[in-house]
Amino acid sequence: MKTSSSFVSGITEVLLKEQKFYRPSAKILKSAKVKKWKEVHAKASKNPVKFWEEAAKELEWYKPWKKAFDGSKAPFYKWFTGGKCNIVHNCLDRWMGTPVEKKTAIIWESDNGEHRKLTYKELNKAVCKMANGLKSLRVRKGDRVAIYLQNIPEIAISMLACAKIGAEHSVVYAGFSAHALKTRIQDGQAKVLITSDVGHRRGKTIDMKGLCDEAVKGCRSIRHVVVVKQDGVKTPMKKGKDLWYHELVKKQSEICKTEPMDAEDPAFILYTSGTTGTPKGVVHVHGGYMVGVNRTFQWVMDIRPDDVYWCTADPGWITGHSYIVYGPLLAGITTVMFEGVPDYPQPDRLWKMVDKYKVTLFYTAPTLVRAVMRYGDGWVKKHKLSSIRLLGSVGEPINPEAWRWYHKFVGKGRCPIMDTWWQTETGMFMIAPLPSMPLKAGSATLPFPGIQAEVVTLKGKKVPVGKGGYLVIKNQWPAMLRTVFNNPKRYIETYWKEIPGYYLTGDIAAKDKDGYFWIQGRSDDVIKIAGHRIGPAEIESALVSHKAVVEAGVIGKPHPIKGEIAKAFVILKKGHLPSEELVGELKKTIRKELGPIAVTDEIEFVDKLPKTRSGKIMRRVLKARELGQEVGDVTALAD
Ligand code: WT7
Repeated sequence: MKTSSSFVSGITEVLLKEQKFYRPSAKILKSAKVKKWKEVHAKASKNPVKFWEEAAKELEWYKPWKKAFDGSKAPFYKWFTGGKCNIVHNCLDRWMGTPVEKKTAIIWESDNGEHRKLTYKELNKAVCKMANGLKSLRVRKGDRVAIYLQNIPEIAISMLACAKIGAEHSVVYAGFSAHALKTRIQDGQAKVLITSDVGHRRGKTIDMKGLCDEAVKGCRSIRHVVVVKQDGVKTPMKKGKDLWYHELVKKQSEICKTEPMDAEDPAFILYTSGTTGTPKGVVHVHGGYMVGVNRTFQWVMDIRPDDVYWCTADPGWITGHSYIVYGPLLAGITTVMFEGVPDYPQPDRLWKMVDKYKVTLFYTAPTLVRAVMRYGDGWVKKHKLSSIRLLGSVGEPINPEAWRWYHKFVGKGRCPIMDTWWQTETGMFMIAPLPSMPLKAGSATLPFPGIQAEVVTLKGKKVPVGKGGYLVIKNQWPAMLRTVFNNPKRYIETYWKEIPGYYLTGDIAAKDKDGYFWIQGRSDDVIKIAGHRIGPAEIESALVSHKAVVEAGVIGKPHPIKGEIAKAFVILKKGHLPSEELVGELKKTIRKELGPIAVTDEIEFVDKLPKTRSGKIMRRVLKARELGQEVGDVTALAD
């Protein structure tokens, strides 16, 4: 991983200001699953493998594991080897014939306010039918299936159907373009693509099938495109290749045997962006992943059997995989899925839904908190929100101001906020409070029991209290990524090479005198636009695909609501002149190549870009200049 050598300043000031403890109420303390958190932390850190082994026993296995942890081929770590299981068995099969089968598994609300509910029994039936449907399309254990759907029940059903038969799902967020979908399908060699005729957003429809038709052009691996009928609009269907989802499942049996998998067999891949080049297919497995997700979800969200849990993320990201679909179903509770956006038709959409469905746990992103804050307190004050017990935050650092607003107006001063730090790669919460812990506004607090996180220099030396450094994980955990799909070399180079023995997260953080972690942001060039992880190299390559552009350098810039926005510095080819029109065209190109989520707010035309002698653009120099900060070490600069 390419890391910059100088730290972003500013973290210590925040640290010094935000030292007030927010202690849990007597009510929270009394009912918390983990009451004596210090003891639990101490015990787990003495023997993390034993801690995870105990967590694994809370789930069902077809065959027990022989070895809980195998580090003999580091960094290709293994967990629960010799064990046989399937994550879907624990999400669904295990509940059949128990009282949970009658419980609501999914509450779904559409963009236009309609809703659908599925009990565990109904969900299981739908998953079995789809699993049989996939089998009828000759999808086998070890195959990959791409899923390009909005936040609708069929996305969860499709994911579960794949994992059930041992196929690996590769979900691509619906905010990505046809081109981005294509590169992800090609890298993963998916055999089937699951999509819908249209999607919905703010009352508008999106031609999902059209995007998919464009994406699969030239994708030789794709044998079938399965289409969920949302609106029933006229959709061109290629005979023999395109099939309607409802027609595929209609003729299938409601019974389907769950495939017993080795604990280390992949459950899914999920693409995420890094500093350079193409996105990486992060590989997660059945055994360790389900253990890690279940334990972290149960403890951090303090799960009770009657919980109605709502995570506002999209299943297209890891947050949605671990904590919309798998975590809640492993716990046997109700998960809310929402197709729409927070401010449509009005800025109190979320709060209306919380009261309507009596949501007890609400998990969202700082960017969303800041976006609704902007509309003022009036909208949230109109709603009781008395069902909420606990709040959560994820995706980027939450600034203390947003934290306090969230605490006061959404939590009504009563609900603790679980600020959970983790990544696509970690699979599960890594630094996060337990509800019985005292909180500080803007800190993700302490590593989860069994996790050893530290802030170090690039030489692996611990930095002093209050100083910024590289966030690393010093030991292993069950839900960790196993490799980068088809690229083990990249796995080693990105995460394990820079500081031998430690997992390099790519984040900058500091620890305070109580050992609390304060995450500052990325140390590499990865950009977080409204919590969405975007690679600068992908935006740059979109820009140079335009005929007027020779070269481009893209950086992230702080933004009060989105956290960060992208800014591009562009060198034009001879004969092309800067203009407003060209800026518009370039923005359109990015949208087309990468999708609406990669929107680049600022484009500046320049004559030169700072480069290393080997010709690599030094984004760090661009960024420091843009933000008026010290440039740091520039010995690598060509001139
Ligand atoms: C990056 C990972 C897995 C959650 C969704 C994002 C940033 C995530 C926090 C937090 C500060 C956070 C980090 C991390 N991040 N959660 N609570 N506080 N920063 O997953 O797309 O893989 O992004 O998101 O920079 O490295 P992702």
